[in-house]
Amino acid sequence: MIDLRSDTVTRPTEAMLESMREASFGDDSRDGDETVRALEALAAERMGKEAAAFMPSGTMTNLVAILAHTPRGGEVLLEAGAHILNSELGGITGVAGAFYKGIPGRRGAMDLDRLTDAIRKTGRSAFGTGLVAMETSHNRAGGAVLPLAHMEAVYRAASSRGVPVHIDGARIFNAAVALGTDAQSLAAHTDSICFCVSKGLSAPIGSLLCGSAAFIERARAFRRMVGGNMRQAGPLAAAGIVALNTMVARLREDHTTAQRLALGLAAIDARMVDPAGVETNLVKVELPQEGRTAAQWSESLAAAGIRVSPCDRHALRFVTHRHIGDGDIDATLNAFGKLWRESASPRETPQRH
Ligand SMILES: Cc1ncc(COP(=O)(O)O)c(C=O)c1O
Repeated sequence: MIDLRSDTVTRPTEAMLESMREASFGDDSRDGDETVRALEALAAERMGKEAAAFMPSGTMTNLVAILAHTPRGGEVLLEAGAHILNSELGGITGVAGAFYKGIPGRRGAMDLDRLTDAIRKTGRSAFGTGLVAMETSHNRAGGAVLPLAHMEAVYRAASSRGVPVHIDGARIFNAAVALGTDAQSLAAHTDSICFCVSKGLSAPIGSLLCGSAAFIERARAFRRMVGGNMRQAGPLAAAGIVALNTMVARLREDHTTAQRLALGLAAIDARMVDPAGVETNLVKVELPQEGRTAAQWSESLAAAGIRVSPCDRHALRFVTHRHIGDGDIDATLNAFGKLWRESASPRETPQRH
């Protein structure tokens, strides 16, 4: 099987497995485990923040960030396609008791005028804006990367009105690599940031929430509340340390394979994907509105040994990662092209001039 459903399918490297065997087994919930502390210090350093807290998932780090930033009833402003709004099962309201507003955006970037208009002060009978959250790289926007100038403008718009900012940076290193800079330059435009070591960085489990020492202290209490305090988490942290130390630079290879895939798909039909819009390791493919649904395409591809995720009725998501090489991309393009030709109602191939 060629598994292009997500970069979360990456298996730990030999160096990670070795480090897991040698890790400390302290009770992190009780005293703080030595290896977990080392990972948290490294994560904070990489993001240019004072402190970090290790948690089991990206969803939990986002939830804990919302709990720690936003008073009950406060409003969280995010781009309408944000993972927090669309894929985290309503924790923002159901658990954090916060209200939210999706701000329309383009390629994951909120419209700045609409964002500025939406920021509200706490009034006589209104809870004000409690938090503004960005996402980069942006999952539903096909791995799009927020430009640094946009991040800076969002941070300025929020902080000049006393509103904190959080970044869902599940794939922050993909965004940094695409921008040709380090993650710290992105995290400079936020009060808190979370990122995952479990995705393209190949560690088996784990995400980190980073911010000021006071914020992380508060976040640790909420982490405990939602059941995120782990006990002997040393081996997981050890793999995370190897991920941060050895796996960031190679993400560029995943972006290159994603480009190869996008170019191949565009050669089949240019309306499916614009390779210039593929900035990282996610390739969102728009399928014809008529004929098979994305779920049916995904089933047919699975029968040909290729696993992909439907991300809309007529859109598929392909994610490249460490286990996907050029040969896998070529096999995927062959299988896709064959299905395309067999498809009952293919669109006319566009004329090239
Ligand atoms: C942008 C974004 N944020 C958060 C998450 C959640 O991470 P987890 O699956 O570890 O909860 C994901 C997962 O794919 C994501 O893409």
